[in-house]
Amino acid sequence: MSILITNIKQLLQTRDTNVLKVVGSDMKHLPYIENAYLLIEHDTIVEFGEMKDMGDTVAERVIDATDKIVLPAWCDSHTHLVYAGHREQEFVDRINGLSYEDIAKRGGGILNSAEKLEQATEDELYEQAVARLKTVMRLGTGAIEIKSGYGLTPESELKMLRVIKRIKHDFNILVKATFLGAHAVPKAFKGNKEGYVQQIINEMIPEIAKEQLAHYVDVFCEEGYFTLEDTDKILEAGTAHGLVPKIHVNQFNAFGGVALGVKHKALSVDHLEVMNPEDIEALKGSDTMPVALPSCSYFLSIPYTPARAIIDADLPLALATDYNPGSTPSGNMNFVVSTACIKMKMTPEEAINAATINGAYAMGVSNMYGSITRGKKANVIITNCIPSYNYLPYAFGENHIDTVIINGHIVD
Ligand code: NIG
Ligand code: FE
Repeated sequence: MSILITNIKQLLQTRDTNVLKVVGSDMKHLPYIENAYLLIEHDTIVEFGEMKDMGDTVAERVIDATDKIVLPAWCDSHTHLVYAGHREQEFVDRINGLSYEDIAKRGGGILNSAEKLEQATEDELYEQAVARLKTVMRLGTGAIEIKSGYGLTPESELKMLRVIKRIKHDFNILVKATFLGAHAVPKAFKGNKEGYVQQIINEMIPEIAKEQLAHYVDVFCEEGYFTLEDTDKILEAGTAHGLVPKIHVNQFNAFGGVALGVKHKALSVDHLEVMNPEDIEALKGSDTMPVALPSCSYFLSIPYTPARAIIDADLPLALATDYNPGSTPSGNMNFVVSTACIKMKMTPEEAINAATINGAYAMGVSNMYGSITRGKKANVIITNCIPSYNYLPYAFGENHIDTVIINGHIVD
């Protein structure tokens, strides 16, 4: 089908050349065309420009976007959207004074989700994940990364990854799978973390690579979880099997994980709530994308990633949700963009660049997603009637989306 969107008040993130990421002070620049049109054929953006240049372009379906803004769909490069059940009791426990670390120490947290996941059938897991996916697609997410990491046994990790594979097959949205076996040390290996690391390296990674169930390998590099040494070994094993590293680092403590990620040519280093000057230095000159997860900071009341220090050091930054049952039970990228502006002092231009083109880079797909570029996938958000794009992050907590188009299909 062909779709022609006409009379667009502002068509955002228009790039004639295929930019793969936007870095440093360039992030302040969000190119756009006023009074624009956009032509989609099948799943591809074929043409766009000013209305006065539209000529006699025709299409099977015409959408009038008078007073509306059109932008690329969000690219959410960090989620744990496949999980079983919820952890709202831990939320209440934290209100009553326990910390995220306290809850994990008494066997809650990730291990609580692992127990629930073990009990869930593959179909139950699939149904729950699909409901979440449909919700975030309606909220404008047009490409998504999903991690394993609540299995923590070979069987359950594979179960999670097969659910991701099934989602990828059944839904018309780009999905990238990440193996996060090193998310926590399971109860069965209590006091024997090395045994679990060996199981990840010798059993899980080879099997996952053989079945082609993941593109990326991830580790929760944090005190009480996995050390630099563990992370080093796991990333090396993953890389040897063709998995590209993407790691959780500097969420609560900074002890060199960012430099380690860069050393392993990680595609992204995610969280970064606690950053030392050395961490920023380590990123300079690398191809690794720093990724901030402001909804996690909001929900856990922990510091926000120092976006200004990162961008002002001439580095890029991406934004993602971290959708998961423990630290971020929300997959709403619109809230992420607002929170980045409100709490991290990112300009709307920087936040939109971070949630589109740089998000696409952080999941390895910015050659085909994340900007309005001829030949890229037709992934767009059409807003309601709003005064300007600044209004999107400004009027937070409200849904400003009218229509979402993913790979050329209108999401109902
Ligand atoms: O990215 N930090 C580690 N992993 C997740 C949270 C996991 C959980 O609490 O279930 C995160 O925030
Ligand atoms: Fe995460």
